[in-house]
Amino acid sequence: ESPSHSPGLRGLAGLFNWTMSYRRDSDVFVPYGYLYAPPTPRPFVPPRKSRLVAWVISNWNEEHARVRYYRQLKEHLPIDVYGARGMALLEGSVVKTVSAYKFYLAFENSQHTDYITEKLWRNAFAASAVPVVLGPRRANYERFIPADSFIHVDDFPSPRLLATYLKFLDKNKPSYRRYFAWRNKYEVHVTSFWDEHYCKVCEAVRTAGDQLKTVRNLASWFES
Ligand SMILES: *[C@@H]1O[C@H](CO)[C@@H](O)[C@H](O)[C@H]1NC(C)=O
Repeated sequence: ESPSHSPGLRGLAGLFNWTMSYRRDSDVFVPYGYLYAPPTPRPFVPPRKSRLVAWVISNWNEEHARVRYYRQLKEHLPIDVYGARGMALLEGSVVKTVSAYKFYLAFENSQHTDYITEKLWRNAFAASAVPVVLGPRRANYERFIPADSFIHVDDFPSPRLLATYLKFLDKNKPSYRRYFAWRNKYEVHVTSFWDEHYCKVCEAVRTAGDQLKTVRNLASWFES
């Protein structure tokens, strides 16, 4: 979880030797997903899309930037909401459901460096929906994914103008298709919990040698 949902970090200074998290500068880096370039990429065929915008949200909190943004966006554009406050979604059916949509709101519950979760990797990318992201800044996303693979809410001065752009893409196939160009080169990996994490730790332990380390600034590092 992000620092916003990791209480008590200040009491943990000097207790741990290593960090393992979604942050790229962790001792053991375990992102929620990543793109990789297979040696022989498969040509990508976008699935047929009959719907416009989907959003799956289980933890509804009016204080969250994502809920505030959604409330403004939905004034200008129909959004299908699934989860606690929306339509029911069967366990394990997110990818199938979202794949009928052109866009997915990959809105993180809090905004932090490198905090890019399965909302992007699984709910949007694995479902072949174009992600509209709200999280860290665009430049941070671009450290992980191509600039033309997503739409950032910060790209627009207002939710209304984002809505206008999404409606434009809905009617302009070539422009919409450009958001899939990267898929001819990359494939999406969604990290599975916790087996991949254990493997990464194991690998790190085996290659660490005899260097000593203590994490003295856990909270200030994680919150930066
Ligand atoms: C782990 O941290 C403790 C506490 O600072 C330190 O005494 C120990 O040498 C560290 N071990 C390794 C392997 O870094």
